[in-house]
Amino acid sequence: MYPILEKRALAEQIWLMKILAPRVARSARPGQFVIVRADERGERIPLTISDYDAAEGSVTLVIQAIGASTRKICALGEGDALADFAGPLGRPSEFVSTPPEELRRKRFLFVAGGVGAAPVYPQVKWLHERGVAADVIVGAKTRGMLIYTEPMRAVAGQLHIATDDGSEGDKGLVTQVLERLVGEQGRRYDECIAIGPMAMMKFVALATKKYGLKTTVSLNTLMVDGTGMCGACRVTVGGRTRFTCVEGPEFDGHEVDFDEAMRRQGMYRNEEQRAAAIEAE
Ligand code: FES
Repeated sequence: MYPILEKRALAEQIWLMKILAPRVARSARPGQFVIVRADERGERIPLTISDYDAAEGSVTLVIQAIGASTRKICALGEGDALADFAGPLGRPSEFVSTPPEELRRKRFLFVAGGVGAAPVYPQVKWLHERGVAADVIVGAKTRGMLIYTEPMRAVAGQLHIATDDGSEGDKGLVTQVLERLVGEQGRRYDECIAIGPMAMMKFVALATKKYGLKTTVSLNTLMVDGTGMCGACRVTVGGRTRFTCVEGPEFDGHEVDFDEAMRRQGMYRNEEQRAAAIEAE
């Protein structure tokens, strides 16, 4: 069992949970994820690692209660425990293995949408600790849905915020900020990393393609076994089938078939609705 050391609300229906999982904390790297289950009969939910502390043996996750299984996890409190906590899974971000001299010459632009700010944070922090500049654009529907703003401000070069209703930062979408920075102001970046809803990543990738800006996206696909055996997480990248759990979750955003990925993501919507109805009875 994996005890919950800390739980706090970050925004409406968005929770931070710090879990005691020393083995995972020791080997986690930016970009990786875990698969968790609330109890033995629970669904396996992939969650990107938001932070980790090898000394404390803890791994921090940010979970949005949007379906029956995530609601079940979010209903647990400090002192409760998760039945399963498998990881770290997936490949670390590419920059983790880039030689330090090469890395320090690069300028990164991160784009985070909604809870995507949580997995972006450890990446920007990791780069900041190595003296690498990274600007960040964070977007959310409204001010109350913004998460990780202050920790991000502490590690980002420049932090730009966009909200759909203009309650904080620019009114509009992250892609509009991106167009302003890269298109109008001509800022130069060597790489863009976008993490958030599939549709956001699709439009970020379309925008950066115009400017020839290399773009990496982190795909939050369905997952079952997390070992490359079941095929649930398959996506098409550059015309080839790839398994997100073992070959991802990060891929070249200009090569991902986002429309297919979004179709597959919606495949179990009916089952989700049935589970929510049973839960409400
Ligand atoms: Fe089963 Fe990736 S989750 S192959």
